[in-house]
Amino acid sequence: MTRFFTLIPAAGSGSRMDSELPKQYLFLNDKPMIYHSINTLYHNKLITSIFVVLAPDDCNWIKHDWSEFSDKLIVLNCGGATRAESVLNGLAIAKQRNLIDNNDWILVHDAARPCLTVVQLDKLISELTHDEVGGLLAVPVSDTLKRSNIDNLVMRTEPRENLWQAQTPQMFRYELLTKALQNAKKLHITDDASAIEALGLHPKLILSDTYNFKVTYPKDLALAELIIHQRNNP
Ligand code: CTP
Ligand code: MG
Repeated sequence: MTRFFTLIPAAGSGSRMDSELPKQYLFLNDKPMIYHSINTLYHNKLITSIFVVLAPDDCNWIKHDWSEFSDKLIVLNCGGATRAESVLNGLAIAKQRNLIDNNDWILVHDAARPCLTVVQLDKLISELTHDEVGGLLAVPVSDTLKRSNIDNLVMRTEPRENLWQAQTPQMFRYELLTKALQNAKKLHITDDASAIEALGLHPKLILSDTYNFKVTYPKDLALAELIIHQRNNP
């Protein structure tokens, strides 16, 4: 039987957010940002466990009450120096504890994408369940793209045809994802799909929308709050 697990890398420091508190703990609509990411994943019936990968020295997680998710939540304090390391460490520990099999689907979702919707998640899973490789949520690029030199002078306009912005969740089977991330250790990858691509495979892009953006800079917080507020107060 196909099983679905999610892994949330949440061991980053949020340097671009310019806040002492790691961004996944900043409050959005009265809850830490990561609460919203967990909440959407938790309510999907196919997903049986949610692994949350924290930094080994995380002292913020225990300040909050996670009991409403306790039947699915497994917290691992094994974050690494990069996102890819955090994901790989989490996968390794889950396997050591016999919680995952090679064929299980793993949905890796950033703690910093709190606006993921139930509809996007359902679509990702239903479109990829029978896929050989797996894939990710993504949106086609809409702006005109300029390539600059180091002085910010436009060198040329890049065609945006067939260009997409990668989001999460990114969904791959355990064995393939682990192999890909191990193989990509020396590459500077910022998502899981890049590791799969480095094996010569072609992850499938599942059309999402810009609401599922990654909260990165201080200005992003207000937008995320607005999106979540509107969703909770239709
Ligand atoms: N992440 C992680 N381990 C790391 C770095 C990042 O688990 N060593 C996680 C973050 O917590 C986040 C996700 O990966 O949920 C996406 O990373 P990003 O948005 O880049 O977050 P940060 O690395 O924390 O932010 P920044 O790059 O601005 O420092
Ligand atoms: Mg980062």
